[in-house]
Amino acid sequence: MAHVVSLSGSPSPTSRSQGLLNRSAALLEARGIQVQAFSLTDFDAEALLFGRFDDPAIRAFQKAVANADGLLVATPVYKAAYSGGLKALLDVLPERALARHVVLPLATGGSAAHMLAVDYALQPVLTALKAHHILGAVYATEKDIHRDEHNVLSVTAEIDERLLIAIERFASLLPHRSVQPSVYASWGQARISS
Ligand SMILES: Cc1cc2nc3c(=O)[nH]c(=O)nc-3n(C[C@H](O)[C@H](O)[C@H](O)COP(=O)(O)O)c2cc1C
Repeated sequence: MAHVVSLSGSPSPTSRSQGLLNRSAALLEARGIQVQAFSLTDFDAEALLFGRFDDPAIRAFQKAVANADGLLVATPVYKAAYSGGLKALLDVLPERALARHVVLPLATGGSAAHMLAVDYALQPVLTALKAHHILGAVYATEKDIHRDEHNVLSVTAEIDERLLIAIERFASLLPHRSVQPSVYASWGQARISS
């Protein structure tokens, strides 16, 4: 069964983009696809900022991404681009980190004005990490995501429909493998060294 990593680039404890991520992860898990979640709170800020590649949390994140087939990546729009926290997370990934991965970007902004921020800002970074397949982003504005008195987030029917379609496509592009990726990696090494 395919493995997916989800990555939240929002520092907010009541993040709307995290809400998109949670709904997407639930849709994948309903299809029997495991999702391993990472967010900024999983990391020591200094280790992240100074790119300490030997930090245990950073190593665990690198390993999870290496073993995954897909990446859900969510970000708020900050100053017409994605968040700096997300950039710090992407910067600690090795070259070609996404070479086998299907990637679905999710983003929230204050308005629709910066809807293309994912295309002109985040997509080039994902391409630099050699993302195998980048799906069109699902973008929502603040008015599309409701937070109730218990801080539970819900999205409008329109956004939910877009998430459903995107997740359907994302899931269809994941490999249906029965062998762990680390086994594939060792096969590759064996071929190279022989
Ligand atoms: C520092 C900062 C910069 C922002 N810049 C923009 C912006 O340029 N364009 C925009 O549409 N929204 C902007 N916003 C609004 C956020 O994108 C919006 O509130 C988003 O839903 C936050 O997502 P989150 O709840 O996942 O953190 C900004 C918010 C903050 C805190």
